[in-house]
Formats: sequence, C-alpha cells, structure tokens
Amino acid sequence: MNERILDFFTKDALEAARANNTYRTLRHISSPEASHVTIAGKDTVLLASNSYLDLANVPELKRAMADAVLEWGTGSGGARLTTGNKTPHDELEEFIAKFKGEEAAIAFNTGYMANVGTISALCGKNDFIFSDELNHASIIDGIRLSRAKCFVYKHNDMADLERAIEAAKAEFFAQSTSASAALSDAGNAKQVARAFRGLVVTDAVFSMDGDLANLPELLRITKAHGVLLMIDEAHATGVLGRTGRGLAEHYNCEHADVTVGTLSKAVAAEGGFVAGSKQLIGFLKNKSRSFIFTTAMAPAVAAAALRNLQFIDAHPERVQQLRDNVKFFCDALRLHGLQVPQTESAIIPIIIGDEAKALRISETLQNEGVLIPAIRYPTVAKGQARLRASLMATHTKEELQTAATAIAQIIKSTN
Ligand SMILES: Cc1ncc(COP(=O)(O)O)c(C=O)c1O
Repeated sequence: MNERILDFFTKDALEAARANNTYRTLRHISSPEASHVTIAGKDTVLLASNSYLDLANVPELKRAMADAVLEWGTGSGGARLTTGNKTPHDELEEFIAKFKGEEAAIAFNTGYMANVGTISALCGKNDFIFSDELNHASIIDGIRLSRAKCFVYKHNDMADLERAIEAAKAEFFAQSTSASAALSDAGNAKQVARAFRGLVVTDAVFSMDGDLANLPELLRITKAHGVLLMIDEAHATGVLGRTGRGLAEHYNCEHADVTVGTLSKAVAAEGGFVAGSKQLIGFLKNKSRSFIFTTAMAPAVAAAALRNLQFIDAHPERVQQLRDNVKFFCDALRLHGLQVPQTESAIIPIIIGDEAKALRISETLQNEGVLIPAIRYPTVAKGQARLRASLMATHTKEELQTAATAIAQIIKSTN
C-alpha cells in the first residue's frame, strides 16, 4: 500500500477530527437491540435507540422473520425491475400505502436511499429546492445530487421559507422574461417559457432536536405558491399521532405531496419508503436511480418490515406507552433543574455545548450503566454538543427516574 498517497488523502482530516474531539469509533454491543443491552459485559439501559417501540427483539416478530427466511431464502437475487421483486415486496408496499392513508407506496433499501433517490428524481438543475437548515444528511445529499438550486431556510421558520420562495420566484420570472424577450426575435419564445418548479423539503421530526415540522403551515405555504411538499417521517412513523401514522395524524391535517419514511427505526426492520399518489410512485419506479440500480432488499426483510408494521397497526397502545414515557422522563429531568424542550417525539436533546464535556458526561453515564450518546460537530453545529436521549415504549418508569437522576448529577459534577 502506498502510505504516502493515502496520507495525502486522509491524514489532515483524521488529525483535525482527533484534535476537535470529533473522531469516531464504533461501540461494540453484544446483545440484541432492546431497552437493555450488554456493553463490555455490563447490563446497560439503552437511552439511545431509534427502535422506539422496542420491536427488534419481540419473539413473535423474530419468529415471523425467521419463517420468512425459510420461505424466501437469504437474498433477492436481482434489482426490483429485473428478478428481485417478490411477493413480500408487493405486500409491504400495499400495506405501507394503507397504513399511511395514501394511494400507493414504494420501498427502498434504506431511508437514506429513499431521500436521495426521490429528490434527485423529482428535481433537476432548473428546479428550486427549499430545505430546512436542520434537515437530515440524506436530504442534503439528495439535493446535491439533483443539482437543483437550493435555498436553505432558517429552522422551522415559516416566514423565512415564504421569503425564500418569493425571492426565488421573482428571480426566476425576471430571468425567464428577459430570456423570452431576447429569443422572441428569433421566434423561440415558447421554448424558453417554463413554469417555476419548486420543492419544499423537511424532516417531520428533526433528528438531533426532536422538534416537529409545522405541517399545517407548510401545506398552506406550498399550496399558495404552487410548489411541492416533501416530508421525511423517519422519526415520526410509529411515534407521532394516536396510532403512530405520523405527522399528518398528529396535526389531524392532510398529507404532504411526498411522504418519505424509514422501516429501520420504530418499525425495527430495514428499508425506506415513499408514500403518495399512484402517479408519484409510478414516476419513482421509473426514474429513481437508488431504486433502480441496486439489488432489491431481501424478501425476508420486506416480510419482517410488513409484519412489524402490522404489529404497530394492531397495537396503538404501544405508541401511547412511548408517549407516556417521554412525558415522564422530560418531567423528571425538569424536576432536576435541567432544561429540556417540550416535545411530542421520542428524541430528547440535553444541550451541553462543549464537545469534550459532552463526551465526558456520556462516558461517565455509560460507566454507571446508562447509554446516551454525545452528539457533536459535524452532526450538530460547533459548540452545540448534546446528550441525545431517545426513549422506547418499554422503558420502565423506575429506569427513567434513575437515569434522569444520574444525568442531572453527572452534568452538575462535570467540568
Ligand atoms: C431524518 C432521517 N431521514 C432519513 C434517515 C435514513 O434512514 P435509514 O437509516 O433507513 O437509512 C435517517 C436516519 O438514519 C434520519 O434520521
């Protein structure tokens, strides 16, 4: 190996990450994902999982997936458009559409691929995308891939979003009028005139802050301006709304034009999806490169995602249990004098600020048997390091009380 050339590509970045306390290593967990896990031989309360309903280790769901492996084998063997599409894929998409109250759905191998493949299929270099400044990396990467003109609006600031749309439209129509005028002499004006195509895209639940997008206001603004609305429900599906159907159920309002989600968090399997009109889904099946140019998810994974979604559908009380836990834990933290935002999601940020301090607090907590990761730059802004607690429906009140007390004590005693 040519170490000198490898250094040229990697050394500065690695040294900078080490100097900034942002160098990452993998944590080794030696038991399945559940409310308690084993780390270095020690029983640890897991306040860090995206498996909000704690379905990854439920015996009947594991058995269903094992049965699906026996029936469908270990892999799909082809892309969805060649030989990969099997009965479980179709059944999963049908159920997602029903669960989300939409005409149709399409499954992707991950939520990341759903975002990247949807945005880059819908938008091209002549289009405009309006993106919340705290959107997930997969949305940002989809926008980059689309080559559309991107306007980043201030987090959840609907006035700033509206200003951005108006400014982009004004610029667009000014340019297209002058281009039309220039070409009209040549009799080409019709070719130049083109409608303004805009897409507003936002997380439903912001993954590092746990707050929610303002769907009713987003619907109003996008309708008023004739642009599309896309919502990423990665942390909302199975969490928000009485039965876990997501942001629209939470606000009791209509859906966005494009709803993206993941099957890897509350659903506790793997994969991503888009739900919407039949026309949208047909378009994505034909145009989304991260759907087309990859091997289909294993049929057993599709079967597991379907079975887990059916479980959520049949057990709305589990969603309520999660909500009760969030309220209990936030109240307990506040009683200890910690500031935590009001949230309906299962993500509770405890802002520390300094990267090194957040890391020390997280390590001390782990030594005491509670795992809450320190989230640092570049995942969040510099100086905004935080403990990111995420809850499960199955945490007991006693566990949450003990964890809240430990968090408060360790924060107070750490410099
Ligand atoms: C908001 C958001 N969107 C998309 C994703 C990607 O989903 P997946 O893990 O299924 O790729 C994540 C997290 O991973 C996320 O937090």
